[in-house]
Amino acid sequence: MHQSETRTLKPSQGLKGEILVPGDKSISHRAIMFSSLAEGTSRVRGLLRGEDCLATLAAFQQMGVRVEDKGHELLIHGRGLHGLQEPEDVVDCGNSGTTMRLMSGILAAQPFFSVLSGDKYLRRRPMARIIKPLTSMGANISGRQQNTKAPLAIQGGQLRAGEYHSPVASAQVKSAVLLAGMQVEGETRIFEPHLSRDHSERMLRYFGVAVQQLPGGAQVTGPVNLQGREVEVPGDISSAAFFLVAALITPGSELLLKNVGVNPTRSGIIDILRQMGGHIDLLNQRELSGEPVADLLVRHSLLRGIKIGGELVPRAIDEFPVVCVAAVFAEGETLIRDARELRVKETDRIAAVCETLGKIGGQVEALDDGIRITGTGHLQGGRVNSFGDHRIAMSMAIASLAAENDVTIEDTACTETSFPGFWELLEQLGH
Ligand code: S3P
Repeated sequence: MHQSETRTLKPSQGLKGEILVPGDKSISHRAIMFSSLAEGTSRVRGLLRGEDCLATLAAFQQMGVRVEDKGHELLIHGRGLHGLQEPEDVVDCGNSGTTMRLMSGILAAQPFFSVLSGDKYLRRRPMARIIKPLTSMGANISGRQQNTKAPLAIQGGQLRAGEYHSPVASAQVKSAVLLAGMQVEGETRIFEPHLSRDHSERMLRYFGVAVQQLPGGAQVTGPVNLQGREVEVPGDISSAAFFLVAALITPGSELLLKNVGVNPTRSGIIDILRQMGGHIDLLNQRELSGEPVADLLVRHSLLRGIKIGGELVPRAIDEFPVVCVAAVFAEGETLIRDARELRVKETDRIAAVCETLGKIGGQVEALDDGIRITGTGHLQGGRVNSFGDHRIAMSMAIASLAAENDVTIEDTACTETSFPGFWELLEQLGH
């Protein structure tokens, strides 16, 4: 557990410079998982060494995967699909939904018993969404509260291929099904209401697995063989998002964010901020290990409120707390709908954003499936609590840049889950 930590931030004069944000969290998890399940050694560079991904790494080490840390890269000696060992103890997924849900897909088809648990926030999050499809493939998984919450107990075994129509657009659900399906004979298909992030599909292909894109879904034909590869993890657009908004709302700012992943299933934040009138240029576009990457140039801009919903929501799902900060400084109203999923993130982010932004002077209204923000152009400042949610803590830090008085944020150590070095980077930029 984190020590509670409180920070007080002062308004900023503008941020200038060139920065690198840490590696993409989603891609880092998958790099660790797929390297562990591959034949041969993988070299992974740019890996996010945040607590969430370290939980995934420790889990595979617990199951016999050997990892050599060379500093600038990690050598992961894969054990193939059939080489994992039964963990002797509970696997601790920490705060990480991705670790728990993707690992459930992997472990459901492994010939041993495992138990997955995590911190108090993760133990509150819905797990029926993966238990249901995996059970329909023959998995034996049970959990607390009528099989809806962690800890999860998984008696791994032989599964059958399946087809599942997920009611939510969730890459964690999609990946859990694909990762189970790739271990069993035949075609497994997963459909979702809107396309969620496709990092699993891309990286599985990069490791030599045939994953097909279907209209509204994806398919894998098992059993597969993963081949160890060199993986270069791009910077996390979800981490970059904080600095995009920081520059947009703080007069005098201009930032170059280098080497950021711009996968179209993740780049909704760029579309949103541009629709709001934000100046963001994509420079030096290229591909790294099957993922599109660019340098992002962003300048202070006059923003206007917009309506956000539909397919854009899963493409920016982790960025709504900081989108709300931008919306406070936009002219007019910003309306976010179709975003009920925000209620089951690390915390209920609809409630958390409304409470925190409201406390420092924002005009924010919680809706059942979204948030309405009235752009007033100013925040008074004050004292807030992050609710132990890394993205709430960082959004409040960004809000403080353009606030009129100090903002004190309680419980800030949680930023370690996705963005080690966040506070130092802010300070380095003169804040
Ligand atoms: C993730 C998928 C998303 C996202 C989370 C990471 C992933 O969750 O919010 O931060 O790596 O697959 P859902 O699958 O619940 O939408």
